[in-house]
Amino acid sequence: MFIVKKVINGKNYFYLRESKRENGRVVAKTIAYLGKTKEEAEKRFKEIKSGMEKAKMEKVNSDKDKQKSNEISIEEMAKFCRRKGFVYPSGELYGGLAGFWDFGPLGVELKNNIKKVWWDFHVHQREDIVGIDGAIISNPKIWEASGHLDNFIDIAVVCKKCGTEAKINKHELGKARCEKCGGEYEVKKEFNPIFVTQVGPIEDSSIKAYLRPETAQMIFSNFKFVQENARLKLPFGIAQIGKAFRNEIAPRNFLFRSREFEQMEIEYFVDPAKKNECKWIKEFEDFELNIYSAEMQEKGEGFKRMKIKDALKKGIIKLSWHAYWLATEVKWFLDLGVDENKLRVRQHLSDEKSHYATDTWDIEYHFPFGWKELEGIADRGCYDLSQHEKFSKKDLKIFDEEGKKKILPEVVAEPSLGVERAFLVFMFDAYEYDEKRQNIVLKLNPKLSPVKAAVLPLVKNDEKLVKIAREIYDELKKEWNVIYDSSGSIGRRYSRNDEIGTPMAIAVDNQTLKDKSVTIRDRDTTKQVRVKIKDLKNVIREVIGGESLFKFGKLVETRVKQF
Ligand code: GAP
Repeated sequence: MFIVKKVINGKNYFYLRESKRENGRVVAKTIAYLGKTKEEAEKRFKEIKSGMEKAKMEKVNSDKDKQKSNEISIEEMAKFCRRKGFVYPSGELYGGLAGFWDFGPLGVELKNNIKKVWWDFHVHQREDIVGIDGAIISNPKIWEASGHLDNFIDIAVVCKKCGTEAKINKHELGKARCEKCGGEYEVKKEFNPIFVTQVGPIEDSSIKAYLRPETAQMIFSNFKFVQENARLKLPFGIAQIGKAFRNEIAPRNFLFRSREFEQMEIEYFVDPAKKNECKWIKEFEDFELNIYSAEMQEKGEGFKRMKIKDALKKGIIKLSWHAYWLATEVKWFLDLGVDENKLRVRQHLSDEKSHYATDTWDIEYHFPFGWKELEGIADRGCYDLSQHEKFSKKDLKIFDEEGKKKILPEVVAEPSLGVERAFLVFMFDAYEYDEKRQNIVLKLNPKLSPVKAAVLPLVKNDEKLVKIAREIYDELKKEWNVIYDSSGSIGRRYSRNDEIGTPMAIAVDNQTLKDKSVTIRDRDTTKQVRVKIKDLKNVIREVIGGESLFKFGKLVETRVKQF
C-alpha cells in the first residue's frame, strides 16, 4: 500500500493505493481517500492499516475456531495444512496456480511415509510383486496404443444457474446437478485432459509428447522385460509409484482433484483361465466390506455390510481375485487406523467404466464433501497388453511353465491409489480437537507421523539437561525424523507436537541426571512412562511398529501441567 498525491485544480488530494497482480499483470487500485494534507493522510493511513491488521487477526482467530471441531471442512483442512507447513498452494507468492500444490516440511515427510508404507506392504512383504520406476514422458505411441488419445475424454459443463464450471463423466450426462446450487448443467465441450509437451528444443524437428496421465502404461510397456528379469511366474504383479498429470477442467477440493498428483499402482497379472482361482481368498472369506454394487445403486438402495464369501457366493463380486484385491486394499487402510465406517467399495455402473475396464470397483471414503473415489480397482482384462502387441508388433506373451504354453496374461485387478487422496484420508481420520487440552491432536498412525519423537529438555538453560537431551537427539536422528525442541514451556511444546502428530515426546529432567532415564509421553492419552536411555531406540522402534508404549515402562505421575 502507498500514498499518492493528486493535484486537482491547484488543490492537493491524498489517496491510498495498492498494487496487486491480476492475470499476470501488476494493477494499481485506489482503495481510500486520505485527506487534503500530508499529515491528515498519514494519520488516516495509520488508522486504516491498524484496522486491516485487526480484521486479519480476527479472521485468523475465527479460522482457528472453526478448526476446533473433529468434523472440519476441506477448506478448513487446507488452512490447517497451510498453517502447520504440510501443504502450500504452488506458486503462492504469485497468486498460485489452480490444481498444483507444494508440500512443506511436514507434508513431504507424511507423503514419503505413505509411499514407504505402501511400498513395504505391496512390494517388499510379498514374493509375487516387484516394482519399477518409469519415465513421465515416453514414446507418444504408448498413448495411442493405450487408447488415451482417443478415449480419455472428460466433459466440461457449466451450470445454467450460477455459472460454476465442472467436469462430469459420460454416464452423468443429463443426471448430474451443480454441486454449488443444484442447477442444471450445460455441456461446454468434450476435452482430453492429457498435457501436451514437445521433446527437442527446436520446434520444427521436435516431437509432440505427453505427460503421462496414469503410471500404469509404463508397467504395460515394460511388462515383458520385467517378467523376464525378475523371473516372475503367474500370478504376479508389477508396482509403481510416480507422478501423473491431468489437465483437469475443474481442480477442486484442495488435494482431492489436482492437475499434478502421484499414483501408487499395481497391475496384477493372472492366467486368463484362472481369473477366479485366487489362492489366498480363504484368508479373507470372513472379512467384511461395505459393498455398494451397481445393482444396489440402480435400485436406489444403500450399501450393505457383507462378508467376502457371501459377496462371492451371491455373484455380487464376480471374481475371487477381484474380491481379494478389494479386501487387501481396504485392509491396508484399516491397519493404518482409518475408520471402517468411512470406507465402502462401489462398483462402477456399466456406462461409467473407463475404456479399458471390464469391471471396476472404487474404494470410496466419506469425505466432508461426500462419498468420493479414493482408489480404483479395475479388471483391465487383456486390453492393454493386446493393444501394445498390436501397436508395437511385438509378442508380449509369456511362457507358462505349468501349462507348458504361451499365454497373454490378463490384469484381473489394478489397485490404483492417489497419494494425495490417501494423504487427505489419513489427515481427516487423524484430526481431532481435544476439548480438555484445548488443542488439535493429530492421531496419525506412528508409521505415518512426519516426526516420530520430540526430544525436550525440561528447561533450556540447564547445561547438564541440554547436553543429555542433545546426545539423545543426535543418536535418534540417525534412524528417524525426530526434533529437538527447547523453546517455550514444556506444556506448550507437548501441544505443538500433538498438533503435528508426533506420537512420542521424550522429556529430559532432573531424574535423568540421577538414573539415566527419561519420560516418554504418549500423544493420544498424554500418559507418561519412564524408560532408560539405553532402551529408548528399541521402545521407539516397537511403538512405530504398533506396540503399546505402556508395555515398556511404569506409568509416572506428571508434575508438569500439560495443557
Ligand atoms: N491407472 C488407472 C487410473 O489411473 P483413475 O481412476 O483415473 O485410474 C486412479 O485414477 C486414482 O488416481 C484415483 O482413484 C485417485 O486416487 C487418483 N487420481 C486420479 N485423478 C486424480 C486427480 N486429478 N487428482 C488427485 N488424484 C487423482
